[in-house]
Amino acid sequence: MKMKKIVVSLGGSVLVPSLESNNIGRYVSVLKEIAKTCQIFIVVGGGGEARRYIQVARDLGAGEAAADELGIMVTRLNARMLVAGLGDAVYPRVAENYTEAREFAETGKIVIMGGITPAQTTDAVSAVLAESIGADLLVNATSVDGIYSADPKKDASAIRYEHLTPQELLDIITRSRMSAGANMVIDIVAGKVIERSGIPLLVLDGRDPENLFRAIVEGASVGTTVSREEPKPRTI
Ligand code: UTP
Repeated sequence: MKMKKIVVSLGGSVLVPSLESNNIGRYVSVLKEIAKTCQIFIVVGGGGEARRYIQVARDLGAGEAAADELGIMVTRLNARMLVAGLGDAVYPRVAENYTEAREFAETGKIVIMGGITPAQTTDAVSAVLAESIGADLLVNATSVDGIYSADPKKDASAIRYEHLTPQELLDIITRSRMSAGANMVIDIVAGKVIERSGIPLLVLDGRDPENLFRAIVEGASVGTTVSREEPKPRTI
């Protein structure tokens, strides 16, 4: 039977909250287990370290594209650390474009990517990768437990959605972009690609790596699902 293909967008703040107290070891065990049941592609983010480099570059007078290039380098650095931890289970290079990701996947190993090009985030990379490989599912492992109607840290009346359609997701992203300093869980490029591809998206709390196993392997309902139709109970 053909294995299902799953793309995981793994936030830098989830994988490497700080270099010393990172979650790489815990993710390595979980990802090896998941890889027995499906083909996985992981897109690693830059986290706080990327933001620190970007800020210093801006203070030095660098333009936004140059700052983004630094951000991309940090995502690839985090991606390399995950490759180091995964050993034989992973293709030993970080894919630098979508064609490479597809080629590396021919080996049947886990494929790792970081950022690709300026003016976007790794959310967009993961959505385009999911579209280009025809993924069955895109998972965004982030530091909140789903998509809310408003920022739950600022608005006590914010509610968490169990299910959204891609169009409802786009409406929420557009609304939140209008408020200054808003930091939406999914960026707009990713939202648009998710809408046009129709690939289901699952947004879950990645601070506990076990959530990834529960959602992907056990089909547990964790976080928010974005799909054209309401999800049925599912296992892979
Ligand atoms: P992230 O994807 O980690 O962005 O990329 P983020 O929004 O800070 O991540 P999360 O979702 O909160 O974890 C870090 C930075 O790298 C650059 C951007 O500057 C981004 O903010 N980047 C990343 C790119 O320019 N292009 C890419 O393809 C990826």
